[in-house]
Amino acid sequence: MNQAISISNLVKTYANGTEALKGIDLQVEAGDFFALLGANGAGKTTIIGILTGLVNKTGGQASVFGHDIDHEHNAAKRMIGVVPQEMNFNQFEKVEDIVLTEAGYFGIPRAEAASECEQLLKRLELWEKKSQPSRNLSGGMKRRLMIARALITRPRLLILDEPTAGVDVELRYSMWDYLRDLNRNGLTVLLTTHYLEEVEQMCRNAAMIKDGKIITNDSVRNLVGILEKETYVVHVDRVTDIGPLADINAQRVDDNTFTMELSKGTDIAALLNKVSQSTGMSIRDFRPQGNRMEKLFLELLK
Ligand SMILES: Nc1ncnc2c1ncn2[C@@H]1O[C@H](COP(=O)(O)OP(=O)(O)OP(=O)(O)O)[C@@H](O)[C@H]1O
Ligand SMILES: [Mg+2]
Repeated sequence: MNQAISISNLVKTYANGTEALKGIDLQVEAGDFFALLGANGAGKTTIIGILTGLVNKTGGQASVFGHDIDHEHNAAKRMIGVVPQEMNFNQFEKVEDIVLTEAGYFGIPRAEAASECEQLLKRLELWEKKSQPSRNLSGGMKRRLMIARALITRPRLLILDEPTAGVDVELRYSMWDYLRDLNRNGLTVLLTTHYLEEVEQMCRNAAMIKDGKIITNDSVRNLVGILEKETYVVHVDRVTDIGPLADINAQRVDDNTFTMELSKGTDIAALLNKVSQSTGMSIRDFRPQGNRMEKLFLELLK
């Protein structure tokens, strides 16, 4: 029973005829940190909905730590803590009560739950808000509250549907740290995200879904390895002759801007030094161009 999630030929057609899942096969090993990727509407939330019992599947099988979601519905559900894409708690209930109520549903005695709740809220930097109604929290705080609520039930599998959407950069990093920690301590994690950086930082394996089908399922290392080259936008005082930069495929954009293509692992600082020496341009600023997740999709679809 080494699979945290085992899905075979999963099909979902919504009542309005939308074929959201067209036969998904997916295995996630216990202890893995797994990313479910795909454009808007690919079917990610639908898969999560089926695993957590919110969406009825049309066909196929799914089990969680060996518990079939049809035949052992409750057992399967107990394995999972979920952080949904949409906020779904009572806006008037206090932060602490939201977590404790959830513990109550799972039969955890209040005294036990209270000390665990305190630890969770402290770790997620929400302790000072514990007596506030949840509607007083910011978007990022609400998302962290959903994580606390998911963890209070001591799940073996944590499912997060876009956990860092709307969370600022600093908090995002601390959230990554926290999730990595939980995973190191044995929690299996499945998340969906639109940030490739997040996948690289946390996940070991990833599947990419397109139009209800899995198009790739591989290690993150292999997936990101597909993006061999990266385009950078460079701002300079004035673009001069970029002829000497043919080996990095330099392309003039306007009087102050050009792009260059670098292989992974290039020492950018050293390269920019060489660029200014060989062309006399003085470099003001540079940054990667475009969305890398989108580039990865495009590469995979080739
Ligand atoms: N309740 C519903 N009724 C009808 N169609 C639905 C319903 N929920 C989702 N869909 C459709 O199913 C498809 C998959 O949606 P889903 O929410 O699973 O995508 P997603 O991969 O989570 O997208 P996103 O990245 O935008 O969250 C979409 O075409 C969507 O419009
Ligand atoms: Mg979704």
